[in-house]
Amino acid sequence: MIVLGIESSCDETAAAIVKDTKEILSETLLSQEEHIAFGGVVPEIAARSHLENIDNIVEQCLAKANLKPTDIDAIAASAGPGLIGGVVVGVMTAKAMAISLNKPFVAVNHLEGHALAPRISNDVEFPYLLLLASGGHCQILVVKDVDNYERLGTTIDDAAGEAFDKVAKMLGLGYPGGPAVEKMALSGDEKRFTLPRPLVGSKDCNLSFSGLKTAVRKIVETYSPDADISHAHISTQDISDICACFQYTATECLCNKLERAITYFKKNYPQGKHIVVSGGVASNTYLRSKLQKLADKNDMLFAAPPIRFCTDNGVMVAWAGLERFRKGLVSQIDFKPRPRWPLDIYAPKAAGAGGVKA
Ligand code: KG4
Ligand code: ZN
Repeated sequence: MIVLGIESSCDETAAAIVKDTKEILSETLLSQEEHIAFGGVVPEIAARSHLENIDNIVEQCLAKANLKPTDIDAIAASAGPGLIGGVVVGVMTAKAMAISLNKPFVAVNHLEGHALAPRISNDVEFPYLLLLASGGHCQILVVKDVDNYERLGTTIDDAAGEAFDKVAKMLGLGYPGGPAVEKMALSGDEKRFTLPRPLVGSKDCNLSFSGLKTAVRKIVETYSPDADISHAHISTQDISDICACFQYTATECLCNKLERAITYFKKNYPQGKHIVVSGGVASNTYLRSKLQKLADKNDMLFAAPPIRFCTDNGVMVAWAGLERFRKGLVSQIDFKPRPRWPLDIYAPKAAGAGGVKA
Protein backbone atom coordinates (compact mmCIF):
# COMPACT_ATOMS: atom_id res chain seq x y z
CA MET A 1 0.00 0.00 0.00
CA ILE A 2 1.50 3.34 -1.13
CA VAL A 3 0.11 6.77 -0.23
CA LEU A 4 1.10 10.24 -1.40
CA GLY A 5 0.53 13.07 1.09
CA ILE A 6 0.48 16.82 0.48
CA GLU A 7 1.02 19.49 3.15
CA SER A 8 0.26 23.18 2.51
CA SER A 9 -1.62 24.43 5.57
CA CYS A 10 0.92 27.05 6.71
CA ASP A 11 4.29 28.04 5.26
CA GLU A 12 5.69 24.68 4.14
CA THR A 13 4.84 23.24 0.72
CA ALA A 14 5.61 19.56 1.13
CA ALA A 15 4.86 16.10 -0.21
CA ALA A 16 5.88 12.57 0.68
CA ILE A 17 5.23 9.02 -0.39
CA VAL A 18 5.04 6.32 2.27
CA LYS A 19 4.40 2.60 2.36
CA ASP A 20 2.47 0.59 4.94
CA THR A 21 5.78 -1.06 5.91
CA LYS A 22 6.69 2.41 7.35
CA GLU A 23 9.15 2.94 4.52
CA ILE A 24 9.43 6.56 3.36
CA LEU A 25 9.86 6.30 -0.39
CA SER A 26 10.49 10.02 -0.87
CA GLU A 27 9.88 13.44 0.61
CA THR A 28 10.09 16.97 -0.74
CA LEU A 29 9.73 20.18 1.24
CA LEU A 30 9.97 23.87 0.53
CA SER A 31 10.01 26.23 3.52
CA GLN A 32 8.72 29.59 2.33
CA GLU A 33 11.27 32.27 3.14
CA GLU A 34 9.12 35.16 1.96
CA HIS A 35 7.67 35.58 5.48
CA ILE A 36 10.94 36.23 7.32
CA ALA A 37 10.88 39.95 6.49
CA PHE A 38 7.39 40.24 8.05
CA GLY A 39 8.24 38.41 11.28
CA GLY A 40 5.34 35.97 10.76
CA VAL A 41 3.37 34.12 8.09
CA VAL A 42 1.40 36.37 5.67
CA PRO A 43 -1.56 34.21 4.51
CA GLU A 44 -1.92 35.66 0.99
CA ILE A 45 1.81 35.38 0.30
CA ALA A 46 1.73 31.81 1.61
CA ALA A 47 -1.21 30.85 -0.64
CA ARG A 48 0.45 32.31 -3.75
CA SER A 49 3.69 30.55 -2.99
CA HIS A 50 1.93 27.18 -2.48
CA LEU A 51 0.17 27.67 -5.81
CA GLU A 52 3.43 28.42 -7.56
CA ASN A 53 5.35 25.48 -6.11
CA ILE A 54 2.93 22.65 -5.47
CA ASP A 55 3.12 20.98 -8.89
CA ASN A 56 6.91 20.88 -8.76
CA ILE A 57 6.96 19.57 -5.20
CA VAL A 58 4.62 16.70 -6.11
CA GLU A 59 6.42 15.91 -9.39
CA GLN A 60 9.81 15.87 -7.64
CA CYS A 61 8.41 13.62 -4.94
CA LEU A 62 7.22 11.06 -7.51
CA ALA A 63 10.50 11.30 -9.43
CA LYS A 64 12.61 10.80 -6.29
CA ALA A 65 10.62 7.67 -5.43
CA ASN A 66 10.96 6.52 -9.02
CA LEU A 67 7.21 6.01 -9.20
CA LYS A 68 4.50 6.84 -11.73
CA PRO A 69 1.31 8.49 -10.49
CA THR A 70 -0.56 5.26 -11.24
CA ASP A 71 1.63 3.40 -8.68
CA ILE A 72 0.02 5.39 -5.87
CA ASP A 73 -2.94 3.77 -4.08
CA ALA A 74 -4.43 6.90 -2.46
CA ILE A 75 -3.79 10.63 -2.37
CA ALA A 76 -4.00 12.50 0.93
CA ALA A 77 -3.80 16.20 1.75
CA SER A 78 -3.99 18.38 4.87
CA ALA A 79 -7.57 19.63 4.56
CA GLY A 80 -7.46 21.87 7.66
CA PRO A 81 -7.11 23.40 10.15
CA GLY A 82 -4.82 26.05 8.72
CA LEU A 83 -4.55 29.08 6.45
CA ILE A 84 -7.37 28.41 4.07
CA GLY A 85 -5.72 29.67 0.86
CA GLY A 86 -2.88 27.19 1.22
CA VAL A 87 -5.16 24.38 2.37
CA VAL A 88 -7.32 24.85 -0.76
CA VAL A 89 -4.24 24.61 -2.99
CA GLY A 90 -3.18 21.27 -1.46
CA VAL A 91 -6.68 19.83 -1.38
CA MET A 92 -7.44 20.80 -5.00
CA THR A 93 -4.16 19.28 -6.16
CA ALA A 94 -4.87 16.03 -4.32
CA LYS A 95 -8.47 15.90 -5.57
CA ALA A 96 -7.39 16.57 -9.17
CA MET A 97 -4.91 13.70 -8.96
CA ALA A 98 -7.47 11.42 -7.33
CA ILE A 99 -10.07 12.13 -10.02
CA SER A 100 -7.69 11.78 -12.95
CA LEU A 101 -6.11 8.58 -11.59
CA ASN A 102 -9.39 7.19 -10.29
CA LYS A 103 -7.88 6.68 -6.82
CA PRO A 104 -9.30 7.51 -3.38
CA PHE A 105 -8.83 10.96 -1.84
CA VAL A 106 -8.13 11.16 1.90
CA ALA A 107 -8.74 14.45 3.73
CA VAL A 108 -6.32 14.56 6.64
CA ASN A 109 -6.79 16.74 9.69
CA HIS A 110 -3.38 18.45 9.98
CA LEU A 111 -3.48 17.82 13.73
CA GLU A 112 -4.00 14.11 13.12
CA GLY A 113 -0.90 14.29 10.93
CA HIS A 114 1.09 15.59 13.92
CA ALA A 115 -0.64 13.12 16.25
CA LEU A 116 0.19 10.02 14.19
CA ALA A 117 3.66 11.08 12.95
CA PRO A 118 5.40 9.39 15.92
CA ARG A 119 4.01 6.03 14.75
CA ILE A 120 6.02 6.03 11.53
CA SER A 121 9.33 6.88 13.22
CA ASN A 122 8.91 5.08 16.56
CA ASP A 123 7.22 1.92 17.80
CA VAL A 124 4.24 3.54 19.45
CA GLU A 125 1.03 1.58 19.98
CA PHE A 126 -2.44 2.92 20.81
CA PRO A 127 -3.46 4.28 23.23
CA TYR A 128 -0.85 6.94 24.01
CA LEU A 129 -0.76 10.26 25.77
CA LEU A 130 0.14 13.08 23.40
CA LEU A 131 1.36 16.62 23.89
CA LEU A 132 0.68 18.34 20.57
CA ALA A 133 2.46 21.69 20.61
CA SER A 134 2.74 23.71 17.42
CA GLY A 135 2.48 27.29 16.20
CA GLY A 136 -1.32 27.20 16.15
CA HIS A 137 -2.25 24.55 18.72
CA CYS A 138 -1.31 23.29 22.14
CA GLN A 139 -3.30 20.31 23.36
CA ILE A 140 -2.98 17.27 25.58
CA LEU A 141 -4.80 14.30 24.07
CA VAL A 142 -5.26 10.60 24.44
CA VAL A 143 -4.72 9.05 21.01
CA LYS A 144 -7.00 6.03 21.35
CA ASP A 145 -6.79 4.98 17.73
CA VAL A 146 -6.79 6.48 14.25
CA ASP A 147 -9.80 8.81 14.12
CA ASN A 148 -10.39 8.46 17.85
CA TYR A 149 -9.15 11.08 20.30
CA GLU A 150 -9.94 12.25 23.76
CA ARG A 151 -8.87 15.81 24.37
CA LEU A 152 -7.85 16.34 27.98
CA GLY A 153 -6.79 19.96 27.78
CA THR A 154 -5.97 22.82 25.48
CA THR A 155 -4.51 26.30 25.60
CA ILE A 156 -7.07 28.93 26.51
CA ASP A 157 -5.13 31.65 24.66
CA ASP A 158 -1.80 31.46 22.79
CA ALA A 159 -0.32 28.21 21.48
CA ALA A 160 3.12 27.28 22.84
CA GLY A 161 4.85 27.90 19.49
CA GLU A 162 3.04 31.21 19.12
CA ALA A 163 4.43 32.27 22.51
CA PHE A 164 7.97 31.29 21.44
CA ASP A 165 7.46 33.30 18.23
CA LYS A 166 6.16 36.38 20.08
CA VAL A 167 8.99 36.33 22.62
CA ALA A 168 11.51 36.02 19.77
CA LYS A 169 9.91 38.97 17.99
CA MET A 170 10.09 41.14 21.15
CA LEU A 171 13.77 40.30 21.43
CA GLY A 172 14.51 40.93 17.75
CA LEU A 173 15.39 37.29 17.10
CA GLY A 174 13.39 36.87 13.88
CA TYR A 175 10.94 34.23 12.65
CA PRO A 176 10.37 31.36 13.34
CA GLY A 177 11.06 32.17 16.96
CA GLY A 178 11.26 28.74 18.57
CA PRO A 179 14.67 27.66 17.25
CA ALA A 180 16.12 31.15 17.87
CA VAL A 181 14.89 31.27 21.48
CA GLU A 182 16.20 27.75 22.09
CA LYS A 183 19.61 28.69 20.73
CA MET A 184 19.90 31.87 22.83
CA ALA A 185 18.68 30.01 25.93
CA LEU A 186 21.66 27.66 25.73
CA SER A 187 23.91 30.36 27.22
CA GLY A 188 21.28 31.87 29.52
CA ASP A 189 20.54 31.70 33.24
CA GLU A 190 17.07 30.14 33.54
CA LYS A 191 16.68 31.29 37.16
CA ARG A 192 17.51 34.98 36.69
CA PHE A 193 13.89 36.18 36.28
CA THR A 194 10.90 34.62 37.98
CA LEU A 195 8.06 34.44 35.49
CA PRO A 196 4.39 33.60 36.16
CA ARG A 197 3.15 30.08 35.47
CA PRO A 198 -0.44 30.63 34.36
CA LEU A 199 -2.94 27.87 35.27
CA VAL A 200 -0.30 25.77 37.04
CA GLY A 201 -2.16 24.07 39.88
CA SER A 202 -5.63 24.51 38.33
CA LYS A 203 -7.74 21.36 38.42
CA ASP A 204 -7.75 20.64 34.71
CA CYS A 205 -5.27 20.03 31.91
CA ASN A 206 -5.64 23.41 30.24
CA LEU A 207 -2.73 25.69 29.46
CA SER A 208 -2.20 29.42 29.05
CA PHE A 209 0.80 31.29 27.67
CA SER A 210 -0.50 34.81 27.22
CA GLY A 211 0.41 36.02 30.75
CA LEU A 212 3.87 34.53 30.43
CA LYS A 213 4.42 36.42 27.20
CA THR A 214 3.20 39.68 28.82
CA ALA A 215 5.61 39.15 31.73
CA VAL A 216 8.47 38.84 29.23
CA ARG A 217 7.28 42.06 27.54
CA LYS A 218 7.42 43.85 30.92
CA ILE A 219 11.03 42.75 31.40
CA VAL A 220 11.93 43.97 27.90
CA GLU A 221 10.27 47.30 28.75
CA THR A 222 12.66 47.77 31.67
CA TYR A 223 15.42 47.96 29.07
CA SER A 224 13.42 50.04 26.59
CA PRO A 225 10.49 52.33 27.53
CA ASP A 226 8.63 51.68 24.26
CA ALA A 227 9.38 47.94 24.26
CA ASP A 228 11.13 48.36 20.91
CA ILE A 229 14.17 46.17 21.10
CA SER A 230 16.05 48.31 18.58
CA HIS A 231 15.94 51.18 21.14
CA ALA A 232 16.91 49.00 24.05
CA HIS A 233 20.09 48.91 26.07
CA ILE A 234 20.04 45.17 26.37
CA SER A 235 23.05 42.89 26.16
CA THR A 236 23.27 39.55 24.41
CA GLN A 237 23.56 37.97 27.87
CA ASP A 238 20.30 39.65 28.98
CA ILE A 239 18.55 38.28 25.88
CA SER A 240 19.92 34.81 26.56
CA ASP A 241 18.76 34.99 30.18
CA ILE A 242 15.25 36.07 29.16
CA CYS A 243 15.07 33.25 26.59
CA ALA A 244 16.27 30.68 29.14
CA CYS A 245 13.74 31.87 31.76
CA PHE A 246 10.90 31.83 29.25
CA GLN A 247 11.79 28.37 27.95
CA TYR A 248 12.19 27.05 31.51
CA THR A 249 8.80 28.42 32.61
CA ALA A 250 6.90 27.36 29.47
CA THR A 251 8.34 23.86 29.88
CA GLU A 252 7.33 23.80 33.55
CA CYS A 253 3.75 24.71 32.59
CA LEU A 254 3.64 21.95 29.97
CA CYS A 255 5.13 19.34 32.32
CA ASN A 256 2.81 20.32 35.16
CA LYS A 257 -0.31 19.71 33.07
CA LEU A 258 1.12 16.60 31.48
CA GLU A 259 1.78 15.15 34.92
CA ARG A 260 -1.87 15.69 35.74
CA ALA A 261 -2.84 14.06 32.43
CA ILE A 262 -0.57 11.08 33.19
CA THR A 263 -2.56 10.35 36.37
CA TYR A 264 -5.79 10.35 34.36
CA PHE A 265 -4.28 8.33 31.52
CA LYS A 266 -2.87 5.64 33.81
CA LYS A 267 -6.19 5.26 35.57
CA ASN A 268 -8.34 5.16 32.44
CA TYR A 269 -5.97 3.56 29.93
CA PRO A 270 -3.86 1.14 32.01
CA GLN A 271 -2.69 -0.65 28.84
CA GLY A 272 -1.07 2.60 27.53
CA LYS A 273 2.71 2.86 27.72
CA HIS A 274 3.85 6.01 25.93
CA ILE A 275 4.03 9.74 26.43
CA VAL A 276 4.55 11.27 23.01
CA VAL A 277 5.29 14.81 21.91
CA SER A 278 4.78 16.19 18.42
CA GLY A 279 4.29 19.45 16.51
CA GLY A 280 6.88 22.16 15.84
CA VAL A 281 7.61 22.85 19.53
CA ALA A 282 8.50 19.17 19.95
CA SER A 283 11.75 20.00 18.12
CA ASN A 284 12.90 21.76 21.28
CA THR A 285 15.69 19.67 22.80
CA TYR A 286 15.28 21.20 26.27
CA LEU A 287 11.57 20.29 26.32
CA ARG A 288 12.34 16.79 25.02
CA SER A 289 14.83 16.16 27.81
CA LYS A 290 12.36 17.35 30.49
CA LEU A 291 9.64 15.13 29.01
CA GLN A 292 12.00 12.16 29.04
CA LYS A 293 12.56 12.79 32.78
CA LEU A 294 8.82 13.11 33.37
CA ALA A 295 8.20 9.80 31.59
CA ASP A 296 10.98 8.07 33.59
CA LYS A 297 9.57 9.40 36.87
CA ASN A 298 6.13 8.01 35.99
CA ASP A 299 7.35 4.65 34.64
CA MET A 300 6.28 5.45 31.12
CA LEU A 301 8.11 5.34 27.80
CA PHE A 302 8.84 8.59 25.99
CA ALA A 303 8.74 8.96 22.22
CA ALA A 304 9.36 11.98 20.02
CA PRO A 305 9.66 11.90 16.24
CA PRO A 306 12.94 13.04 14.66
CA ILE A 307 13.02 16.83 14.48
CA ARG A 308 12.25 16.97 10.77
CA PHE A 309 8.93 15.20 11.44
CA CYS A 310 7.98 17.60 14.27
CA THR A 311 7.63 20.76 12.18
CA ASP A 312 5.20 20.62 9.25
CA ASN A 313 6.18 18.06 6.62
CA GLY A 314 4.70 15.79 3.97
CA VAL A 315 5.52 12.51 5.70
CA MET A 316 3.09 13.12 8.56
CA VAL A 317 0.24 13.78 6.10
CA ALA A 318 1.09 10.79 3.91
CA TRP A 319 1.33 8.55 7.00
CA ALA A 320 -1.94 9.79 8.56
CA GLY A 321 -3.54 9.37 5.11
CA LEU A 322 -2.23 5.81 4.96
CA GLU A 323 -3.48 4.98 8.46
CA ARG A 324 -6.92 6.33 7.52
CA PHE A 325 -6.96 4.65 4.10
CA ARG A 326 -6.15 1.20 5.48
CA LYS A 327 -9.09 1.56 7.87
CA GLY A 328 -11.36 2.46 4.95
CA LEU A 329 -11.62 6.10 6.04
CA VAL A 330 -11.50 7.73 2.62
CA SER A 331 -13.21 11.06 1.86
CA GLN A 332 -15.84 12.19 -0.57
CA ILE A 333 -14.44 14.15 -3.48
CA ASP A 334 -16.61 17.15 -2.50
CA PHE A 335 -15.00 17.31 0.99
CA LYS A 336 -14.80 21.00 1.94
CA PRO A 337 -11.48 22.25 3.37
CA ARG A 338 -11.88 23.38 6.98
CA PRO A 339 -10.05 26.44 8.34
CA ARG A 340 -11.05 25.25 11.84
CA TRP A 341 -11.22 21.57 12.60
CA PRO A 342 -10.91 20.31 16.17
CA LEU A 343 -9.29 16.91 16.25
CA ASP A 344 -11.85 15.29 18.51
CA ILE A 345 -14.67 16.05 16.04
CA TYR A 346 -13.53 12.83 14.37
CA ALA A 347 -14.87 11.05 17.43
CA PRO A 348 -17.83 13.02 18.76
CA LYS A 349 -18.58 10.36 21.36
CA ALA A 350 -15.16 10.65 23.03
CA ALA A 351 -15.54 11.40 26.70
CA GLY A 352 -14.06 14.28 28.61
CA ALA A 353 -13.50 16.63 25.68
CA GLY A 354 -14.05 19.59 27.98
CA GLY A 355 -11.00 18.86 30.10
CA VAL A 356 -10.10 16.47 32.88
CA LYS A 357 -11.59 17.27 36.24
CA ALA A 358 -9.89 15.66 39.17
O1 KG4 B 1 4.02 22.31 13.61
P1 KG4 B 1 4.58 23.56 13.03
O2 KG4 B 1 5.69 23.45 12.03
O3 KG4 B 1 3.46 24.42 12.36
C1 KG4 B 1 2.17 24.51 12.85
O4 KG4 B 1 1.37 23.58 12.58
O5 KG4 B 1 1.93 25.49 13.59
O6 KG4 B 1 5.04 24.45 14.27
C2 KG4 B 1 5.67 25.67 14.10
C3 KG4 B 1 5.94 26.25 15.47
C4 KG4 B 1 6.47 27.69 15.42
O7 KG4 B 1 5.73 28.46 16.34
C5 KG4 B 1 7.91 27.54 15.84
O8 KG4 B 1 8.44 28.68 16.51
C6 KG4 B 1 7.83 26.35 16.78
O9 KG4 B 1 6.91 25.48 16.16
N1 KG4 B 1 9.15 25.73 16.93
C7 KG4 B 1 9.81 25.65 18.10
C8 KG4 B 1 11.07 25.06 17.80
N2 KG4 B 1 11.09 24.77 16.45
C9 KG4 B 1 9.91 25.19 15.94
N3 KG4 B 1 9.48 26.05 19.33
C10 KG4 B 1 10.39 25.85 20.31
N4 KG4 B 1 11.61 25.31 20.11
C11 KG4 B 1 11.99 24.90 18.88
N5 KG4 B 1 13.20 24.36 18.68
ZN1 ZN C 1 1.66 21.81 12.06
